[in-house]
Amino acid sequence: MKKTKKEFKVDERLKHIAFIMDGNGRWAKKRMLPRSVGHSFGVKSMEKTLNSCFKMGIEAVTVYAFSTENWTRPKQEVDSIIKLLREYIVDAKKHENVRYVFLGDKSILDEDLRNEMLKLEQDTKCLKNLLNIAFNYGGRAEIVKACNSLIENGLPITEEGISKNLYTSHVQDPDLIVRTGGEYRLSNFLMWQSAYSEIYVTDVLWPDFNEEELIKAIESFYRRKRRFGGLNKDEE
Ligand code: IPE
Ligand code: IPE
Ligand code: MG
Repeated sequence: MKKTKKEFKVDERLKHIAFIMDGNGRWAKKRMLPRSVGHSFGVKSMEKTLNSCFKMGIEAVTVYAFSTENWTRPKQEVDSIIKLLREYIVDAKKHENVRYVFLGDKSILDEDLRNEMLKLEQDTKCLKNLLNIAFNYGGRAEIVKACNSLIENGLPITEEGISKNLYTSHVQDPDLIVRTGGEYRLSNFLMWQSAYSEIYVTDVLWPDFNEEELIKAIESFYRRKRRFGGLNKDEE
């Protein structure tokens, strides 16, 4: 990790970072605003964070935008989040060099939205910076889906087989998972892929998250000793 006043770059230890973008509702509540306004400011925060990540040399970013459990929220809130997704897809075309991949079950979304999502994935397929957007995503359902596709193809259930049949088969597991909003849980996010991810939790609410907070998370990551069950050279 090199750090200069103006430039903060990551090295090969940090290729994939994932965000559980939590706290939009509380952010809005503190300001006596509807929760939907919190989500709208959350999108702005996501944009800034993505730009910072790619500028720092992070190759892949995954964001948790909507979980399979989030359908239980009031309809008005769910509708506002889907509207933001639609708007985001239109704006996404302005981004240079970002490859979009949606993680999750698109099948229950409206057909026109589903087609927009597929088109964005297709149109950006060859671009360099990877952004995975987890939308209607649930980690357990993803593992079940992977096992079922192995069974349907008459293949044995192996770790490699499951990994290859997850929504994330195109990307390595996240090195770091950042959760804003202060909760120490995964909430069904990347259950399989997070086996050896470093986890960083901050009380900062997602709309307030910024580059300074991102650097704090990354600095914490670099202070960790990743062992993957083994020992590092200086620990033998
Ligand atoms: C996270 O913010 C975004 C989504 C779940 C869509 P929340 O809406 O969960 O915000 P809090 O946790 O209620 O503050
Ligand atoms: C996790 O946040 C899901 C997203 C950020 C999209 P939640 O607010 O849904 O998680 P819980 O309910 O506090 O576990
Ligand atoms: Mg929440």
